[in-house]
Amino acid sequence: MISRHDIQLIITAARAWLGGLAALVIVAIGLRIVSTFGWYFPPNFRDGFLAGRDAYFWRSAYGVGFYLHIVGAPVALLCGLPQFSRLLLRAFPRLHRTLGKTYALAVLLAAAPGGLIMGFWSRGGIPAMLCFITMSVLVAAFTILAWRTALQRRFESHRKWMTRSYLLMISAVLLRLLDPALRRAGLSDDLSYQLSVWLSWVPSLVIFEVMERVKITKGPVIASH
Ligand code: HEM
Repeated sequence: MISRHDIQLIITAARAWLGGLAALVIVAIGLRIVSTFGWYFPPNFRDGFLAGRDAYFWRSAYGVGFYLHIVGAPVALLCGLPQFSRLLLRAFPRLHRTLGKTYALAVLLAAAPGGLIMGFWSRGGIPAMLCFITMSVLVAAFTILAWRTALQRRFESHRKWMTRSYLLMISAVLLRLLDPALRRAGLSDDLSYQLSVWLSWVPSLVIFEVMERVKITKGPVIASH
């Protein structure tokens, strides 16, 4: 018969595999995002994401927001990833703190304000604009709460706020998987983009909140030994 201890081992192994797989996908898509940066330094207004944006790029806050965002967001994505490793946390607590502070500063000073500014000119119109504004405000708020709870040494709350913040950051990865998939499924470019921007973070946050509630009602199975 499978003992409680065996079940714990299986769950721990499954979590490690899934975590490793998710990390690989995040790194691969993150590298793909950064691989287009040749078009942005200097800005190419003929092809790609910046095509046709020359009318307002330097005449508004867009240019500054754009560069803040495309530099800060990949730094945050990269620094946030190893933070979920319990091994790293235990073996190198100072590295965890340094990466955490770099993540928070990259989100608060660059990725979130830049994303907020860019959101007003989103190619997905008002539905996408509202989504990006909500995301930018939420990611900043979650990151501030995560930092505050760490300083207060309320580490369980800190873990939850940081996870919420990072789930918003990896929306960039999910968006780049969902949008082409929905277009291939037959949706128009606009509808696919508008749906994808919302689907790239709302379900993840809902699933996370449900899992946390289940954990509270069932009790901490993993930590019961
Ligand atoms: C809460 C998280 C994020 C928000 C609110 C956000 C917001 C935005 C917005 C509004 C745009 C313009 C989209 C449009 O015009 O339709 C954009 C584009 C972009 N974002 Fe983000 N973003 C987030 C996370 C990230 C992350 C984690 C990365 C990097 C890995 C990233 C990299 C980029 C890049 C490079 C662009 C330019 C378009 C492209 O090259 O694909 N963003 N983002």
